[in-house]
This record gives sequence, C-alpha cells and structure tokens, in this order.
Amino acid sequence: MALLLGRNLTRTYSVGRQLVTALATVSLEVIAGHFLVITGPSGAGKSTLLNLLSGLEKPTSGEVLYKNISLSKINESKLANIRNSAFGFIFQIPHVLPHKTVFENVAMPFNYGTISDPDHYKRLCLEHLEYVGLGKLVDRSPNTLSGGELQRLVFARALVRNPEVIFADEPTGSLDAANSTIILDLLKEQADRGRAVVMVTHEKEAMAYGSDILELKKV
Ligand SMILES: Nc1ncnc2c1ncn2[C@@H]1O[C@H](COP(=O)(O)OP(=O)(O)O)[C@@H](O)[C@H]1O
Ligand SMILES: [Mg+2]
Repeated sequence: MALLLGRNLTRTYSVGRQLVTALATVSLEVIAGHFLVITGPSGAGKSTLLNLLSGLEKPTSGEVLYKNISLSKINESKLANIRNSAFGFIFQIPHVLPHKTVFENVAMPFNYGTISDPDHYKRLCLEHLEYVGLGKLVDRSPNTLSGGELQRLVFARALVRNPEVIFADEPTGSLDAANSTIILDLLKEQADRGRAVVMVTHEKEAMAYGSDILELKKV
C-alpha cells in the first residue's frame, strides 16, 4: 500500500535576491514493506525531499499525500499529529536530551497527547530498548553511551509509537562499519515487518539494503 505519494515535488529557497533550487521535479511512492533508498551527490536535494515527505517543509510546487490527505492543506495541529503518530525519525547525528535518562529519552514521544495507560507505555519503551540491545542501560545518562548506542537509542525512540513510516537521513553517516550494520539490519527488519523505510544515504553498503532506489541528480 502506498502510504505517501509525492507528486511533481519541487522546492526552491530565496537566499537574498537569488532563487536556489533545492529539489528539481520528482514524483515517488512510499510503500509499506518497502525499503526506499534515496541517493545522489551532496546538494542534490536528498534531505529536502525527506523533509517534504515527512511534512517538515512544504513543497514550492506539487504535493505530498499521506493516505490521500494533502500535507500542505491540513492545519499545523493535524500535521503534528500525523508526524508524531505515523512517522519516526533518525538523523545522522543522534539528538537526545542529555539530562534525561536513556528511558526518559525513549519515552519522549509520549509527552505529546494524553497517556491513558502509563504501564502500557512504560512496557512499550522497555520492549523497544530491549529490541535495540539497550535493555541494561535504561537508567544511564546518554552522555555515557557510545555513538552506536546513541543511534540505537534514537532508533528505539523512533519506533515506540508504532510508526508506519521510518525516515532516516544518513543514519550511518557518523558510525563505524559494525554499528552501521546494526542500524541497517534493524531498518531492514522494520521494512520486512511491514513498515515503510525511507533512507537517505550515499554509502554503497547502505544502498545495498534498498528494495527501491531513487537517485537524485544535482541541479
Ligand atoms: N533552507 C535553505 N535555504 C537555502 N538553500 C537551501 C536550504 N536548504 C537546502 N538548501 C540548498 O538546497 C540544495 C539541496 O540541499 P539538501 O537537500 O540539503 O541536499 P543533500 O541532502 O542532497 O545534500 C543545496 O544546494 C542546499 O544548499
Ligand atoms: Mg542531506
């Protein structure tokens, strides 16, 4: 099933008096169970495309449909709701709150909206920390984690609300080979379980995980 449809998407930015084309026209589908890899040279618009698909930014022309809802046409709170409940995010640099514990960081997505059953959400957080191999580190400070462990923490946080789509922008860009493989295997497993994975990368090893590949050219 196509969860997201990008139709004739473009994005330009005005910088001073100049118009910068960040993304030239592209159309694509994000399908449940598929591992879509977006690749291309630096500056080709990979991150821009990911930001459009995930509703973080609006296209200059074209539209993004999430289950037939145009992300440009709904209000901010509806969009925030979709982003928080249906999408999970991983970036190159793992962003965590340093003064919270590992557990509290993974629980962050539950800070929005009301929690009807606290025990259930605690169980979910612990299950996901176990899943990424951090079950023994729940009370630790993120400052004491390695880069690979931090990225797995972010991965658990991205999964905890059961997203339909996982967006990953160069998720292995700051990791060594062993930790890259761990993250890529986890992403692949999520696609195999029926989620849609959309990953930006320019690394050959990472590209090999894709079931679909979209190559952007530099404009
Ligand atoms: N907010 C912005 N303002 C101006 N130019 C931008 C902005 N975001 C991206 N760009 C430009 O758009 C192009 C594509 O950027 P980006 O999507 O980050 O590329 P990639 O992720 O493929 O390296 C680059 O030339 C970049 O400088
Ligand atoms: Mg980028």
